[in-house]
Amino acid sequence: MGDSEGSHLNSPLLQKLADGGYLSIWNDYGLYGIVGAVILGLSIPLLLSGTIMGKKKGKQRGVQVEVGGEVGYAMRNRKSTELVEVPWEGATTMAALFEQSCKKHARGRFLGSRKLINKEVITGSGGRKFEMLHLGEYEWETYGETFDRACNFASGLVKLGHVKDSRAAIFSETRAEWLLAFQGCFRQNITIVTIYASLGEDALIHSLNETQVSTLICDFKQLKKLAALSSSLETIKHVIYFEEDETTIDSGISSNMSNWTVSSFLEVEKLGKESPIHPRLPSKTDIAVIMYTSGSAGLPKGVLMTHGNIVSTAAAVMTVIPRLGINDVYLAYLPLAHVFELAAETVMLSAGCAIGYGSAMTLTDSSNKIKKGTQGDASVLKPTLMAAVPAILDRVRDGVLKKVNEKGGAAKKLFNLGYKRRLAAIEGSWLGAWGLEKFLWDVIVFKKIHSILGGRIRGMLCGGAPLSRDTQRFINICVGAPIGQGYGLTETCAGAAFSEWDDTTVGRVGPPLPCCYIKLISWEEGGYLTSDKPMPRGEVVVGGFSITLGYFKNEAKTNEVYKVDENGMRWFYTGDIGMFHPDGCLEIIDRKKDIVKLQHGEYISLGKVEAALMSSNYVENIMVHANPFHSYCVALVVPSHQALEKWAQEAGIGYKNFPDLCQKDEALAEIKQSLSKVSKTAKLDKLEIPAKIKLLPDPWTPESGLVTAALKLKREQLKSKFKEELEKLYG
Ligand SMILES: *[C@@H]1O[C@H](CO)[C@@H](O)[C@H](O)[C@H]1NC(C)=O
Ligand SMILES: *[C@@H]1O[C@H](CO)[C@@H](O)[C@H](O)[C@H]1NC(C)=O
Ligand SMILES: *[C@@H]1O[C@H](CO)[C@@H](O)[C@H](O)[C@H]1NC(C)=O
Ligand SMILES: *[C@@H]1O[C@H](CO)[C@@H](O)[C@H](O)[C@H]1NC(C)=O
Repeated sequence: MGDSEGSHLNSPLLQKLADGGYLSIWNDYGLYGIVGAVILGLSIPLLLSGTIMGKKKGKQRGVQVEVGGEVGYAMRNRKSTELVEVPWEGATTMAALFEQSCKKHARGRFLGSRKLINKEVITGSGGRKFEMLHLGEYEWETYGETFDRACNFASGLVKLGHVKDSRAAIFSETRAEWLLAFQGCFRQNITIVTIYASLGEDALIHSLNETQVSTLICDFKQLKKLAALSSSLETIKHVIYFEEDETTIDSGISSNMSNWTVSSFLEVEKLGKESPIHPRLPSKTDIAVIMYTSGSAGLPKGVLMTHGNIVSTAAAVMTVIPRLGINDVYLAYLPLAHVFELAAETVMLSAGCAIGYGSAMTLTDSSNKIKKGTQGDASVLKPTLMAAVPAILDRVRDGVLKKVNEKGGAAKKLFNLGYKRRLAAIEGSWLGAWGLEKFLWDVIVFKKIHSILGGRIRGMLCGGAPLSRDTQRFINICVGAPIGQGYGLTETCAGAAFSEWDDTTVGRVGPPLPCCYIKLISWEEGGYLTSDKPMPRGEVVVGGFSITLGYFKNEAKTNEVYKVDENGMRWFYTGDIGMFHPDGCLEIIDRKKDIVKLQHGEYISLGKVEAALMSSNYVENIMVHANPFHSYCVALVVPSHQALEKWAQEAGIGYKNFPDLCQKDEALAEIKQSLSKVSKTAKLDKLEIPAKIKLLPDPWTPESGLVTAALKLKREQLKSKFKEELEKLYG
């Protein structure tokens, strides 16, 4: 059950952001210096005056509730006895929500983008070309203007010949026109198909063909790719591209596009402006989006989201962010093809916030694509709210720590002291957490870090994957703002649980959002029971308004993981294992399909063991394998070239090439020893430590089909590809 892997808010694009030079975010972190010594003296009295008030008494955030369907331990948000369905009366669809918000905030700033001032191409070492951008101030359009443009685009689509009831797809990076096109389509009740660029060409062809998309809306730079695939894109009739500075279409590709009408976004808007068409508005049960997410096996799956699903998530999240409103400025840069960003931007537009668009490569002054001496998106925009994913925050933390260590001396001491004091304050005393001392530390130590993100961040929304406790704390302290950690899946339309801003604990994902109930259902086999002490545990099942309709053209899979109860409420079986804390907050502790029973009945959680073993610096990829016929587990390991070769050199091991090195007994012994060391640190059980391992020289990549685009293991594919190796390990 619950093959929802990959549908988690964990996208390949997000992964890429984390890997890219984006993380040079903190490069301009040049703190302290002269003030250091002075401040160090000043902080000693502060240390003594710290207020000790003891922990604030736990606040109740979730309340147990009676619900229908399968027996379990269910929880709702404390704030509302009834589930929240709409942000306000009448906003039952995305189209209605958008129209009403645009009317209400007609003169307020809405969508902001930066104009390109100039572009330089620099050739780096090895002949690689880098584009460096000089971008200008944000230029804004009001809610009123945006609404008019969306209406024009909608009329233009019809005028262009988009056939009623056929679908449109958006295949583009995050930008203002994405949201405009999206809202425009809803004015004509057109369902939007979204696909991540990093899913690959087969996935793109499959998704567009399966949903019979007739209009494709894309970035200018995607045209080339589409032309090359044109013979496989049989259903496409119209292609609409977003203008960029260079918009002459290469004559080489235009012959391949002869079966399509190809127009720019502005042309379509103009067409619609000249001949307005009556809107054809959707109802709340109509499908707004078919969102393709990577499947852990085979082709991606399209999740069917209704208008009602998206507005209910937005309504719920609005109740969680305090004082959300027209003074907030949101920095949008995560992929909109991903439900997390889509939900976040819907929340912002419902509340009348300004949304400034940026990109991961231009986010800060020291981002890869920002020309030296010019400003990154955050410095210009000065956002108050941002979304982020754990992989990004992890690298941010590593980046800051690296800088601090490089500085060394008084600066490092000061940072560590400040950090410790803030940590003690947050974890111990409430007053200390926000009082004068916080102010002083912020001014002395953390202000420079705040300024990297523009200096006005008052909260971050984090989703996509579990955020480590250390990182959550670190970002809390260094950014000086709360992090709302969310839990949800594409299938639950993002919304499931969200931590509240005054919750200073880490490692949990908060109580259920008010649009849904969360129920734990005992999983006897796996040994997780709702009767467990001290806290109930079980499979996480989510029910309510945000639960999507299922998978496109895949009834079998839909019926496997979605159930409708006697009251007509839909429930989604996530396959995740959770635990409810006494205050009603959820903690995700495991994943059902990654738990295997061994010969003597002990259970072993493959994901947990893999995560622990990954901390060995020899491990590039690892898959732990176990089955009920043996009393131990084994592992396939792709070693890190760099680490293993470095060791071989130092140990004086001769070898012909890397595959040869992987065959050496000495290498095997060295890696086994390292694994056993990290197992001890992670307190793994004896039978959780792989008894035997096999070293494989070739990394597992999405192209090889062995991991998903989000770099999660495809266990079935790995098992069949390395069948012989696994058999030998058990032999
Ligand atoms: C919206 O379109 C769908 C098909 O694409 C159709 O079934 C539905 O009735 C339409 N809704 C309205 C309110 O016209
Ligand atoms: C045109 O389409 C053909 C067949 O799909 C493909 O082989 C060729 O590379 C395409 N040409 C261009 C310029 O994309
Ligand atoms: C598109 O889908 C149809 C079935 O609907 C199938 O026959 C055809 O082979 C598919 N084409 C591609 C390029 O996948
Ligand atoms: C245009 O469509 C026709 C008929 O479907 C097809 O035979 C032809 O290959 C298509 N041309 C291109 C360039 O894709």
